[in-house]
Amino acid sequence: MLRTHTCGELRMKNVTETVTISGWVQGVRDKGSLLWIDLRDRYGITQITIETENAAKEIIEAARTLGREYVISVTGKVAERYSKSDKIATGDIEIYPDNITILNAALTPPFTIEDETDGGDDIRMKYRYLDLRRNPVRKNLELRHRMAIETRNYLDSLNFLEVETPVLIKSTPEGARDFVVPSRMNQGEFYALPQSPQTFKQLLMIGGFDRYYQIVKCFRDEDLRADRQPEFTQIDCEMAFVEQEDILQTFEGLVCHLFKTVKGIDIPALTRMTYADAMKFYGNDKPDIRFEMKFVELNSVVKGKDFKVFNDAQLVVGICAKGAAEYSRKQLDELTEYVKRPQIGATGLVYARYNADGTIKSSVDKFYNEEDLKKWAQTFDAKPGDLMLILAGETNKTRKALSELRLEMGTRLGLRDKNTFACHWVIDFPLLEWSEETSRFHAMHHPFTSPKPEDIELIDSAPGEVRANAYDMVINGVEVGGGSIRIFNKQLQSRMFDLLGFTKEEAQAQFGFLMNAFEFGAPPHGGLAFGFDRLCSLFGGAEVIRDFIAFPKNNSGRDVMIDSPSPIAQAQLDELGIGVKKP
Ligand code: AMO
Repeated sequence: MLRTHTCGELRMKNVTETVTISGWVQGVRDKGSLLWIDLRDRYGITQITIETENAAKEIIEAARTLGREYVISVTGKVAERYSKSDKIATGDIEIYPDNITILNAALTPPFTIEDETDGGDDIRMKYRYLDLRRNPVRKNLELRHRMAIETRNYLDSLNFLEVETPVLIKSTPEGARDFVVPSRMNQGEFYALPQSPQTFKQLLMIGGFDRYYQIVKCFRDEDLRADRQPEFTQIDCEMAFVEQEDILQTFEGLVCHLFKTVKGIDIPALTRMTYADAMKFYGNDKPDIRFEMKFVELNSVVKGKDFKVFNDAQLVVGICAKGAAEYSRKQLDELTEYVKRPQIGATGLVYARYNADGTIKSSVDKFYNEEDLKKWAQTFDAKPGDLMLILAGETNKTRKALSELRLEMGTRLGLRDKNTFACHWVIDFPLLEWSEETSRFHAMHHPFTSPKPEDIELIDSAPGEVRANAYDMVINGVEVGGGSIRIFNKQLQSRMFDLLGFTKEEAQAQFGFLMNAFEFGAPPHGGLAFGFDRLCSLFGGAEVIRDFIAFPKNNSGRDVMIDSPSPIAQAQLDELGIGVKKP
């Protein structure tokens, strides 16, 4: 046997036992008369101690040939340590070896395998298998495992069935580009990898499955960010015979279960906010409500003076940063620079300090006197010590910029603690979104989303105003999941495709299978999907989902360890019928 115990297991109760442990050499310290080896595996570290005066020659020789990350097996007697360590769980004991077997030598790793490593991102990605030996990375994947188990426990207890859906499919329009796979047997034709199993889970409902879930890989060829990977995992769910309320309750239950079982936290019932309010008060459809700092609209208070910027603006809107009146000129200049960055896009920042002595000083004192500023303060419900920050311009752009400033202020004022969790639903999303780029409506969620019954009459006259039975779950400003009640009627689905600019033929060619299925007894149904990687990273207190994926892609969509994507041989291309034809 290569081991009787793990490297994290031995305690005082094992003293005098003869054991075998195996693992990787974390380090060797050679003090001449004493030699220590720290042996590491997934479970912990155990110290091997060799007294060179008493130990066998082969053991000393073997120990002295060891380097970092050598794989060894050690058999020996467990003894109580002379000087105990409270830094590791096995710190009370050590092993005096009778035998050391070198199972495999190792090159010196290109970075240190320690919690705080000296390796940069690129090198860690290239040698991901070494990075995986580090505690923080392993702990993230252990968390992910626990989340998956508890997800299955919860959904199974409610009669959800896990059903696998195909990976070689045809494209479903979810807003991103598809990854495609050429078909050898049907030359010139392509499969698409699923952006989500959306249509299949709906077909499962028509197939009578009633409650479905799947922890499933999805693929989207989109620009990457900290919270986006080209292949990522969803907890994908669907239910039949439900209304929106049933879905919100069921999946609120899932998130509460995960917080309770994985983190030991009881979270309060989720609050709900309409999309319209989210935009008006936070400028964002996924507001971080760990802190208030709601938007305050000021058009009626600030217009009509000589300040052209405010007079010309469609919207003047601000936030009140509690206790920030003492911000220095330098800090305020920094904030101004921040909002003027091209990504944020504001033209400038107006501020007003409500000083502790009750006076108010603004950056536009030329145009507004103390009495005007008092009115501002009233509107903001500002108190002495607060700082009012104001942006002006076109409504949507200004809200978006102020949303960024609000988050920045939240961070600066320490209001975004990663161990505090504020979970809520954003509901009543618009059904459609106008795109200037393509001069047509796009589905805000996806084309299978049902309009709110009370808004259906607006579909012809004012399609942009129709709200959908669609919802997102937001935790700490991260969209962790989203879904909708679906259309289950052929005529309405067909009307939806009209609105999205499909011809009847295009709709039939792409989605005929679903619309036809609606004619064979489709039950009312709805569902949602959680971004599993995002959920795991939130639970792990991180923003970057890459650290919660065993083998992620980098920001250019590359796997630098296996060097993919990569060219393929001409012969392979020829076989697929997509080779560049040789003259
Ligand atoms: P949606 O497109 O909103 O809905 O996706 C659901 C959730 O998946 C996560 N997510 C991602 N995570 C990591 N990397 C990505 N590139 C990425 N894209 C999305 C988000 C998001 O909330 N079929 C519908 C669901 C439904 O209607 O039931 C869907 O896929 O957390």
